[in-house]
Amino acid sequence: MSNAPNFKQELTAVFGMPVAENPTQVMVEAAYRHHGLAWRYLTIEVAPAALADAVRGARAMGFAGFNCTIPHKVAVVAHLDSLGESARLMGAVNCVVRRGTQLVGENTDGKGFLASLRELTDPRGRRVVMFGAGGAARAIGVELALAGAASVTIVNRSEARGRDLAALLTGKAGIKEAPFVPWQGRFAIPADTDVVINATSIGLYPDVDAELEVDFATLSPRMIVADVIPNPPRTRLIRTARERGCRAIDGLGMLVNQGVIGVKHWTGIDADPRVMRAALEEVFGK
Ligand SMILES: NC(=O)c1ccc[n+]([C@@H]2O[C@H](COP(=O)([O-])OP(=O)(O)OC[C@H]3O[C@@H](n4cnc5c(N)ncnc54)[C@H](OP(=O)(O)O)[C@@H]3O)[C@@H](O)[C@H]2O)c1
Repeated sequence: MSNAPNFKQELTAVFGMPVAENPTQVMVEAAYRHHGLAWRYLTIEVAPAALADAVRGARAMGFAGFNCTIPHKVAVVAHLDSLGESARLMGAVNCVVRRGTQLVGENTDGKGFLASLRELTDPRGRRVVMFGAGGAARAIGVELALAGAASVTIVNRSEARGRDLAALLTGKAGIKEAPFVPWQGRFAIPADTDVVINATSIGLYPDVDAELEVDFATLSPRMIVADVIPNPPRTRLIRTARERGCRAIDGLGMLVNQGVIGVKHWTGIDADPRVMRAALEEVFGK
């Protein structure tokens, strides 16, 4: 083995705008350090008009891959060579992976969520109520369908987005039941529900006291309640669910697990999720 010094680091990144508040660098670089990898994860602001050049730059500089966040998740598809199955179904990419000379688009948001859910239950055959029909809800809904969930009821404020997601799930994603319910007034969770998911942005910092319009008396201890909000992790929904005896999954679980999947795609290693979560908890508090 050569003892020649090597100052060249492997590069990964997130492209977004705004991006300064995105905490992914903290958890991914904690994993790189923990596993002894001389890799970097850069937080890079890329304007929509510069996306094509940014992807060309990443190719030219040999990036191992990069995450895409708002507003690039759909637009980046046009600049890639191929897509993984979930990314193709959703038409959105949050994780780009270099394989040889090709850039492949994956969607790991929903897979990260499912990894958290699987720590508590197998999604196969489960009945799910999901609030929201935006990017996070699409990612989670598609993975639930691919994992064999029996039913995903979509509750959303905007009818068009809700119906669109229901059609995707029962169409290309192949789930039997995905009824859409317009969100009007306090939603009562049906008693046979196994999993309740907040996939809206309600509760996200700084609006931390915002509460879902749900009849919380209908939450029962047999239900698992999950929130996608990573900041703060202990949302009102998570606190209420625990008070009512439900098992709860906070938004850090999804964030950490999609990070673990991204690091695996780029480096091939199985990163320790505890190290990544601890790094985020330092930023967000427990
Ligand atoms: N933990 C993680 O790893 C992770 C990953 C991805 C995203 N997220 C989080 O997921 C959340 C949603 O992100 P997204 O990309 O899906 O956003 P998005 O595409 O903008 O969708 C937002 C969703 O929230 C709903 N919504 C927002 N405010 C509402 C209100 N006051 N009342 C009722 N519904 C409301 C929207 O309903 P309408 O359709 O009616 O507008 C829509 O369904 C964000 O807070 C983000 O931080 C977390």
